[in-house]
Amino acid sequence: MKNQAPIGQIIDGVALSQALRADIASRTQALLARGIKPGLAVILVGENPASQVYVRNKVRACQDCGLHSVLEKHDARMTEADLLARIDALNNDPSIHGILVQLPVPAHINASKVIEAIAPAKDVDGFHIASAGALMTGMPGFWPCTPYGCMKMLESIGFELKGKHAVVIGRSNIVGKPMALMLLQKNATVTICHSGTQNLKDLTLQADLIVAAVGKRNVVTADMVKPGAVVLDVGMNRNPEGKLCGDVDFAGVKELASYITPVPGGVGPMTITMLLVNTLEAAERVASQHP
Ligand code: GUN
Repeated sequence: MKNQAPIGQIIDGVALSQALRADIASRTQALLARGIKPGLAVILVGENPASQVYVRNKVRACQDCGLHSVLEKHDARMTEADLLARIDALNNDPSIHGILVQLPVPAHINASKVIEAIAPAKDVDGFHIASAGALMTGMPGFWPCTPYGCMKMLESIGFELKGKHAVVIGRSNIVGKPMALMLLQKNATVTICHSGTQNLKDLTLQADLIVAAVGKRNVVTADMVKPGAVVLDVGMNRNPEGKLCGDVDFAGVKELASYITPVPGGVGPMTITMLLVNTLEAAERVASQHP
């Protein structure tokens, strides 16, 4: 009998993260044996409630895997100059291998200036122009954690990207644009869609892979999906009942997609896992310079 393509398989970001974090913990132990403890500094300016949850989860994940972490919480009135001074200090702190400033920062602080102040060797978010340039040109560098996590999810199901049509919905610097570049590097044919795209459904119906990264509910519905397509949902929204949901109509699309990521429990946990991977990688690079 011919193998049937699977339908409605869940890519479990929690389970995949657990497997990857076991490897992170053992690589961390190997560095510890050489006297190096990978360290991440997380800076939060202000009291954005969602950001507070995100930074807490990042720091907890570090602790769970044996990494050193520092959480700096600053008042929303912190000046840009003071923040830049903190980044400079952390750039020069040998116990810190990765620096992350949680976004958004308050309006009086220029986010680009802050990102560009982080030493590229410690840019574990992958947001610095040097990291973006490295990704674009295929040079070694840090990849932004969310699209990097998406690539790991595709790898986990053995999805061969070569020759496939990938439709990325969203063009942010954090997800959409780097996602498209990573898929391109694996020889997919990539279409980037955004709020100005006029024929979204025509394009998604051609897609072997859809990555939804808009931040709006029901951007992708069942009528927009080719049977057997893989659907990754990067969205993090609330429905009218207050329940967490993604950009994809999960219940409807699950009936058509071969593989789909849930929200919560899909891409979200992978983002944090890839932050740990990048931090570990930063520490391993330092270790390789001092054998
Ligand atoms: N805000 C939303 N997502 C992210 C992220 O991945 N990194 C940082 N630093 N801020 C964010």
